[in-house]
Amino acid sequence: MAAAALAVAGCGGDDDDGGAAEAPATTAATTAPATTAPATTAAAPASTAPDGPGTAAAGKQVFVAASCGGCHKGLGTKPGYGPKLAGKGLSEAKIRTTVIEGGQLMPGGLVEGQDLADVVAYVKSLQ
Ligand code: HEC
Repeated sequence: MAAAALAVAGCGGDDDDGGAAEAPATTAATTAPATTAPATTAAAPASTAPDGPGTAAAGKQVFVAASCGGCHKGLGTKPGYGPKLAGKGLSEAKIRTTVIEGGQLMPGGLVEGQDLADVVAYVKSLQ
């Protein structure tokens, strides 16, 4: 009875490679949808309301820029095509109305909004 116990060597070698769980590739594309907000190119509507009380200093610039000075010479201190504006005791209301509506010869609506408030303050400062 020679039972050769064949010991099968080689047990072990149980290669444990750690079993690194491979994380599933997260292929969920996180591409945010293109925001196609329309470009707001519309300019702010021109406001006719003044931002604040008019100032004579700013109004002097407006007087030149709006070509008031083309008819009212010497920045309003001398007559030209239009009358002299200084020292005539013009009320603020009268000045404002004239600038808005114009006169028989003077064009109206040359300025509005803050420019109007400023130029009225300037002409008023000449009275
Ligand atoms: C084209 C020339 C002209 C321009 C530009 C002009 N004016 Fe006159 N303005 C006149 C004339 C002319 C009068 C006299 C009223 C009339 O006949 O129209 C006058 C009258 C006025 C009066 C009233 C004077 C009064 O004694 O009653 C004021 C105030 C005045 N202008 C301010 C302005 C201002 C401020 C501007 C600029 C925004 C301006 N004007 C631009 C020609 C002009």
